[in-house]
Amino acid sequence: MTIIVAADENWGIGNKDELLVRIKEDHKNFKALTTGHTVVLGRKTLSTFPGGRPLKDRTNIIMSRDPSYSVEGAEVAHSVDELLEIVKGLDDEVFVIGGGTIYEQLLPYCDKAIVTRIDHAFEADTYFPDLDADEGWKITETSDEQTYFDLTYHFVTYERI
Ligand SMILES: NC(=O)c1ccc[n+]([C@@H]2O[C@H](COP(=O)([O-])OP(=O)(O)OC[C@H]3O[C@@H](n4cnc5c(N)ncnc54)[C@H](OP(=O)(O)O)[C@@H]3O)[C@@H](O)[C@H]2O)c1
Repeated sequence: MTIIVAADENWGIGNKDELLVRIKEDHKNFKALTTGHTVVLGRKTLSTFPGGRPLKDRTNIIMSRDPSYSVEGAEVAHSVDELLEIVKGLDDEVFVIGGGTIYEQLLPYCDKAIVTRIDHAFEADTYFPDLDADEGWKITETSDEQTYFDLTYHFVTYERI
């Protein structure tokens, strides 16, 4: 599985159930990578989407421990084991798209992470593990510098060594 995440310079990824910043070009990149494929996300991240609805043109797997939870147009996985069973049966590229608890639990099952790395420190309450400090991961690709108003950022690909 592949992780897609936008992280600030402290690996912050969210604050008060919202993204730190919405960058249009980053969203376009996210859409281009994930459309037609499978996305895995936590119940809280789904609630941040417009109308709390799953993403269009993608197979959505929502993680919730609540046995009675259901979402129209999406599959629900109630545990990491159940998720891994579902994913095993899919012949598709699977992207883990957040949030914090889901990234943390699924990182051991991912071999690639596409990180939008924003050169700024935002106020944050949700973090992604620091891949630069993890000897199990290395950077294999870094984009040219991108800009969004006064922010700069790069698309950085990490792969498991
Ligand atoms: N920067 C980015 O790229 C990015 C991407 C996505 C999200 N975010 C941000 O991340 C924040 C949300 O992250 P979060 O950590 O608070 O929530 P989250 O990971 O999106 O969702 C947490 C929920 O997932 C379910 N869950 C977690 N582990 C599970 C397991 N092992 N089995 C089954 N269900 C499980 C639980 O749902 P139940 O309570 O229903 O059991 C839990 O409450 C927001 O600020 C959001 O904007 C940032």
